Amino acid sequence: MPHVLVIDDEPSICWAFRQLLERKGHRAVVAPTAEEGLEALSPETDLVVLDVRLPGMDGLTALRRFREKRPELPVIVITAHGTMQTAVEAIKSGAFEYITKPIDLAEAEAAVDRALERRAVSEEVRRHQAEGADLGGIVGSTPAMQEVFKKIGAVCLTDATVLLTGESGTGKELVARAIHANSRRAKKPFEPINCASLPEGLIESELFGHEKGAFTGALRAKPGRFEVAAGGTVFLDEVGDLPSPAQAKLLRFLEDHSFTRVGGTEQLSADVRIVAATNRDLRALVADGAWREDLFYRLNVVALTLPPLRARKADIPRLVARFLQDSGNSGKQVSEMALTALTAYDWPGNVRELRNAVEQAAVLSRGGPILPEHLPPRLAQRGSGPDDAAAATLIQRWLAEAPEGAAWEAVSEKWERLLIARALEDAKGSLSAASRRLGINRATLRKKMERFGLRSSSESD
Ligand SMILES: Nc1ncnc2c1ncn2[C@@H]1O[C@H](COP(=O)(O)OP(=O)(O)OP(=O)(O)O)[C@@H](O)[C@H]1O
Ligand SMILES: [Mg+2]
Repeated sequence: MPHVLVIDDEPSICWAFRQLLERKGHRAVVAPTAEEGLEALSPETDLVVLDVRLPGMDGLTALRRFREKRPELPVIVITAHGTMQTAVEAIKSGAFEYITKPIDLAEAEAAVDRALERRAVSEEVRRHQAEGADLGGIVGSTPAMQEVFKKIGAVCLTDATVLLTGESGTGKELVARAIHANSRRAKKPFEPINCASLPEGLIESELFGHEKGAFTGALRAKPGRFEVAAGGTVFLDEVGDLPSPAQAKLLRFLEDHSFTRVGGTEQLSADVRIVAATNRDLRALVADGAWREDLFYRLNVVALTLPPLRARKADIPRLVARFLQDSGNSGKQVSEMALTALTAYDWPGNVRELRNAVEQAAVLSRGGPILPEHLPPRLAQRGSGPDDAAAATLIQRWLAEAPEGAAWEAVSEKWERLLIARALEDAKGSLSAASRRLGINRATLRKKMERFGLRSSSESD
């Protein structure tokens, strides 16, 4: 049974809410002041309905207290009619919604339903939580990823050199490992080498080894990673950063599997498969003369491009379920609104960025479900300021309740209503002043006011 805490100094409002809530089978606890309301807050409380004008501590201060104590708890604020500023202030301070006095019971009931629903769990994520493993831990059921799986399946059966491309965080290393793990080389080593992180002078010896005395500090001979990986797979990550002497040696290796250690003359050979990856445009590097064209063709025998996450957003719920499971949060719930925010975002950092966001949210949400406020702020703000965030929150809410196929009109009306109420308030109720300010004629303004149930205090002018 949902527990709702109602804080208002007007007994009639408390009474009306109690009737409403008990009729719905909820439990109502009422308090006449913010201080007593904060006192009455319990771990069972699911929702707070809070008047902003209270004796003693005012509602906005109380709102912030509630947010500190229980950041995930939805709070509905009751404001006086026409005090738009307070309503906006409340939304900015994290109120879930506001309703205005005099209270319209149907409106209040709808707000309560929405606030309680907000804790609703995303069925989609939960469904995926029950599912088993995917190919090599790679999640993806969108057509774009199905293509990738098909290609992985085909190259696994061969020893062909593979070039993986895709933006940062799209899963290139994961795919390289899956190719190895499903190939006949699975029981032999998988040797990842990051070509960008090794100093230029060391990369050749790292890859191909060196003989004793090959350079200062080469006190003894050392086999390279190609030799260590014998029978297995060498993963050349960030291969676009390979310096040109190493490019020449790699080309030779790809031609006949032979190489020499640095400082050595003996022809060695190694049975390894090469999988390379880059998030740079190798063709452009070739055009600029920074990369050998012949090497490009030798590497690009099988080209596999990983799609960015924004091009396969349908995979997001499944990925979220996977990351919760991987981080020891298998049973963790995700609210519908949080999933909406995760799906709306563009993910420039791709799956890696999503993984970090989910893991962080799992920590911040502690025992409760993941809610929008547990996600990185950039997801809600999309690069805009707090005003835009407040507006976006309102829009999202209105959109959610708008009838299918008529959202434009429904949402626009809500904005218009706010705008007109604001203009009337500023014009102290004067219709002519408000219509001048808005640049719409009085008849139109009057018609809209009628439709929205707005009154002006001085109809005379
Ligand atoms: N399809 C996927 N399913 C599950 N996890 C994924 C998927 N793609 C990427 N990841 C996860 O996202 C993170 C980044 O993946 P990975 O390191 O393979 O990306 P990358 O393409 O190599 O990135 P970079 O170019 O920055 O090196 C890893 O934690 C990986 O497990
Ligand atoms: Mg990588």
